[in-house]
Order: sequence, then structure tokens, then C-alpha cells
Amino acid sequence: MIIQALDLGKVYQKGKNSIEVIKEFNHVFESGKMYLLKGASGKGKTTLLSILGLLDKPTSGKLLLNGKEIDFTKPGVLCDIRKAEYSFVFQDYALFENLSVYENLRLVYEDTDEKLDEKRIDDLLQKMNLSHRKYHRTAELSGGEKQRVAFARALLKDAEVFIFDEPISNVDEGNAQIIFDIMKVLKTTRMVMVTCHTSVFDNICDEIVCL
Ligand SMILES: Nc1ncnc2c1ncn2[C@@H]1O[C@H](COP(=O)(O)OP(=O)(O)OP(=O)(O)O)[C@@H](O)[C@H]1O
Ligand SMILES: [Mg+2]
Repeated sequence: MIIQALDLGKVYQKGKNSIEVIKEFNHVFESGKMYLLKGASGKGKTTLLSILGLLDKPTSGKLLLNGKEIDFTKPGVLCDIRKAEYSFVFQDYALFENLSVYENLRLVYEDTDEKLDEKRIDDLLQKMNLSHRKYHRTAELSGGEKQRVAFARALLKDAEVFIFDEPISNVDEGNAQIIFDIMKVLKTTRMVMVTCHTSVFDNICDEIVCL
């Protein structure tokens, strides 16, 4: 997969006020690499990931997937591409709080043709030190536990592009190391985009994209 951002721009309009968050952003992203999108809080990391992940449309510029321009006016097409190619960890996790950890993970399979793989779910929960939480309601988990559930959920999907928005902001050092190790393997065959406030990802990413 190759994703090309050409002069991407994003302006949010609030009444008479407008704020330009992304300005003439250009970059080429390819599979087999991990990209760190870096910038201070409010610089537009999540906004840019939303556009690169086809969740939001730019106000200017183009986005090309494997050389083909994305038509942001076709939500159905965007949805199909997202389902087929992308997996996300959102900054706010976006878990179903009233469902158990297991139910959240199971839902991944309802969206695909893949067969439910109980062993894979159990292995991932074990890897993320969450086995004891499998049947707990997600709302009862700590922030770091929720973040690890979101990460496990993202890994269950056999996507081409993995987008991790601040995936370790709430986890302890030991669990962060586990996440690093998984990401290092993942990026050898897939495209990984990650944002982070600190410098912890600097050394394991192939490219740092500053916003
Ligand atoms: N839907 C929206 N409507 C209006 N303004 C928005 C919207 N989403 C984001 N913004 C503004 O765009 C700017 C960039 O936000 P964004 O969430 O992309 O930053 P960020 O770099 O991810 O920050 P953080 O590190 O805190 O997560 C912020 O000033 C924010 O207020
Ligand atoms: Mg953000």
C-alpha cells in the first residue's frame, strides 16, 4: 500500500471563526514502515490521522491510495476501503463501555468474513496482560486497561494500514514495551502510523513526520 498526501489542508469553521489545522501537508507513506506523527497538543495529529484514515475529509488537497485519488464525497466507498484496509486505535479508545472486553473483541469478526478465532483472542489478551479482565464490563476498567483492549482489538483485524493515535498514553512502562515489540513486528509487513506526545517512539519509527 502507498498513501500519498498532496497539499492536504484542513480548516475548521466555527461560526465566523476559522482555524487552519493542517496546511499544505505532503508526504508519501508506504507498507513496511512505521511513521511517527509528532507535534505538540493541538497541532493536528488526530485531525491528520482522521483524513489519512478516511474518517474525515480534507478542505483542500488530495489523497491517493495506490495511485488512485480518494473521492471524499462517497461515504459508502470510504467505508468499504476502511473496512478492508484499515485498523485503528483511537485516542479515546472508542470501546463499547457497556460490553465486556471479550464482546468488544468479538465484534471485530462481525464486520469481516473471517471466522471467529477464540484462541487468537485469548492469546492477545494474555499478551496484553488482560486475561483476568476478559468478561469484565469495559466501563469498569482503568484507562490503561481500556487502551490495551483497544490495541488488542486493532490487532485482531488483518489490515494493511494500522493507525495508532497515542497508543501508550495511559499504559505503564512494561505494557508499553510489549506494545513496542508488537508494533516492530507489525511494521515489517504493514504500514503503521503512530502519534505520541513524548520521544519514546523516535528510535523505533522509520520516519518522523513533524506537524
Ligand atoms: N471537529 C472539530 N471542530 C473544530 N475544531 C476542531 C475539531 N477537531 C479538532 N479541532 C481543533 O483542531 C486542532 C487540532 O486538534 P487535534 O485533535 O487534531 O490535535 P492533536 O495534535 O491530536 O492534539 P492532542 O495531542 O492533544 O491529541 C485543535 O485546536 C482542535 O481544537
Ligand atoms: Mg490527538
